[in-house]
Amino acid sequence: MARRAVDHGIAVREANLADIDRIVEIEDASFPDPYPRGLLKAFLYMPGAYMVATDCGTIVGYTIGIIRHRTLGHLVSVAVAPGSRREGVGRALIGEALARLADAGAKRFMLEARESNAPAIGLYKRMGFSEAGKIEKYYADGESAIVMELNGSSGSRT
Ligand SMILES: CC(C)(COP(=O)(O)OP(=O)(O)OC[C@H]1O[C@@H](n2cnc3c(N)ncnc32)[C@H](O)[C@@H]1OP(=O)(O)O)[C@@H](O)C(=O)NCCC(=O)NCCS
Repeated sequence: MARRAVDHGIAVREANLADIDRIVEIEDASFPDPYPRGLLKAFLYMPGAYMVATDCGTIVGYTIGIIRHRTLGHLVSVAVAPGSRREGVGRALIGEALARLADAGAKRFMLEARESNAPAIGLYKRMGFSEAGKIEKYYADGESAIVMELNGSSGSRT
């Protein structure tokens, strides 16, 4: 699918197999418990929206959203390279993923975020999500997850 320019030279497009090395690099730099390469690859073959953001051709972030139960868009992950944060890349990625998940039939969206992850929770709130619950000890290190939800009609693309 064609690239869509979004902001300041940043473009968001569908991810493909050739992007995996860079996605793994960003993943490893972003999480204490990164997804393994095999899983990051496997998501390419699931229905949903697997997007990368590029800046002058270099991948600076990615997001994965999948469709579950036909109408639920589940945002599985988003990460932006440390040197490219606070420039609107996360917002561009999530906006495009939500739009594509909606095009694929999602009527509502959900995600989990670490309770301590203020940047992520801030980003999701900025995109219209609100806190819907908490799952105690969701992560392997014992941290709880905040569950966030968004109804399809109230999302923001930018
Ligand atoms: C969370 C993350 C993806 C945000 O990406 P980003 O490109 O820096 O986000 P944006 O520049 O698009 O910011 C969008 C909004 O998110 C919020 N936000 C982003 N970074 C923030 C920070 N450090 N502190 C507080 N709020 C923050 C703000 O509301 C911001 O809007 P504003 O710039 O108008 O104030 C990035 O910090 C990241 O990759 N973190 C590590 C991986 C991670 O935790 N992923 C989420 C897993 S649930």
